[in-house]
Amino acid sequence: MRMDSLRLQLLRWLLLPLAGLVAVNVFTSWRQASATADLVTDRTLDASVRAIAEDVRIDRGVIDAIVPPVALEMFDTGHRDRVFYRVDTSAGRLLTGYPDLPLPEPLPKASAPVHFTGSYRGSDLRLAALSYPLVGATDGARVTVVVGVTLAGHAAMVRELWVGNFGQQLILLVAAGVLVIIGLGRGLAPLMRLREAVMEKGRDDLSPLPDHAVQSELRPLVAALNTYMGRVAGQMAAQRRFVANAAHQLRTPLALLSTQVAFARRTGEAAERAEALAGAEESTRRLARLAAQLLTLSRAEPGSRRPRDEDIDLAQSARQVLEGLAHLAVERDIDLGLDVNAPAVTRGDGAMMREAVVNLVENALRYTPRGGTVTVTVEGTADEAVLVVEDSGPGIPPEERDKAFERFYRVPGTPGEGSGIGLSIVREVVDGAGGRLLLGTAAAGGLRVEMRLPAA
Ligand SMILES: Nc1ncnc2c1ncn2[C@@H]1O[C@H](COP(=O)(O)OP(=O)(O)OP(=O)(O)O)[C@@H](O)[C@H]1O
Ligand SMILES: [Mg+2]
Repeated sequence: MRMDSLRLQLLRWLLLPLAGLVAVNVFTSWRQASATADLVTDRTLDASVRAIAEDVRIDRGVIDAIVPPVALEMFDTGHRDRVFYRVDTSAGRLLTGYPDLPLPEPLPKASAPVHFTGSYRGSDLRLAALSYPLVGATDGARVTVVVGVTLAGHAAMVRELWVGNFGQQLILLVAAGVLVIIGLGRGLAPLMRLREAVMEKGRDDLSPLPDHAVQSELRPLVAALNTYMGRVAGQMAAQRRFVANAAHQLRTPLALLSTQVAFARRTGEAAERAEALAGAEESTRRLARLAAQLLTLSRAEPGSRRPRDEDIDLAQSARQVLEGLAHLAVERDIDLGLDVNAPAVTRGDGAMMREAVVNLVENALRYTPRGGTVTVTVEGTADEAVLVVEDSGPGIPPEERDKAFERFYRVPGTPGEGSGIGLSIVREVVDGAGGRLLLGTAAAGGLRVEMRLPAA
């Protein structure tokens, strides 16, 4: 799955919630703005109603209303609002104004004006009504004053209050987005420099990257890169050593072979030629074995090929190996035996496991003097499959045991040919199968190699 850019991710995580908040904010601020405009309009209506009420009087027993101009002028806010009014007596007589202007339902009795909305002549209105007993009236007559105003000024006020707020919020949102982009650009700069530093490195330059120029969050990444490069450098060095060693190992028998062939060509004597050719044959055999060992080792290395994962019956593997090496035992007059004490099954690559056992038994047969014994024992526990190879030879002194597993290492004084690869093959195979290798001294005095593998 491909990740979106960090910028996009951050913008989304920051700006979407922020936009949500702004939307809520804009809505509440609209509500506030219209409540404020309501309040202002109502106050003006109240003032207008009271101004009209004050001018209603009884003139020679007749109630009369004159609307003072100020009562209407106070609505002149430049938005061309129209103002309507009516003044009625409780007897139902219209004193002045528009007879069909809406009245509140029911008529208010309080001494303060009530507010309501309605529509009149195709416009929505906000209205205030005041109903009060007229001072000096004989029969307790009441007067009702209603003033209504269209909503243009109201709407303009809401807009004015609200748009300013909305603009501020929008600026906040845009500023946040811009800051994220700028901040990220600055924040990512060290990462880009790190990338440059990696790309600029020479092909063989595996020296560690400096970690002081990056943020603390990135330091683990640099450390991981450095660890990784350290590992690669180590592996490259090992690889170079291996190639040098292998070339060295190949060179000796090749030089010998070339000498033997040259000698065979030059000599006139049939017996000498036969001897030289036999030597050449032996050199060829050594070379072939060395090549085979190198190939097996490269196959046993992790990652070189996909290992098979199958059940391996160690007893059966040992039997096959012993059959293949029986001729060597006969040649050297060695008593080669197999003890299967318990079935032992492990999981892994059967062919590689047999190569490992071949190398152990071959070593035992080759380094044990004539007439000796080599015993392979197979046993198993609940969680381990064990194969032991013991011989009656000279063994390996304890201080040499670790080194014996190194590639191309041979214990000094070891007779016969060999290139020191066998035990490294064994180690790679056992490591790959998740097992352990133990070297010790056999009951018969020789080497005891114990291969302990996880049971299948
Ligand atoms: N059974 C053994 N008894 C005594 N020494 C042994 C035995 N097995 C291994 N060694 C010592 O350990 C060394 C490494 O063994 P290893 O099998 O890796 O190499 P090698 O036998 O010398 O060469 P090759 O690659 O042909 O097997 C041997 O050279 C030998 O000195
Ligand atoms: Mg060997």
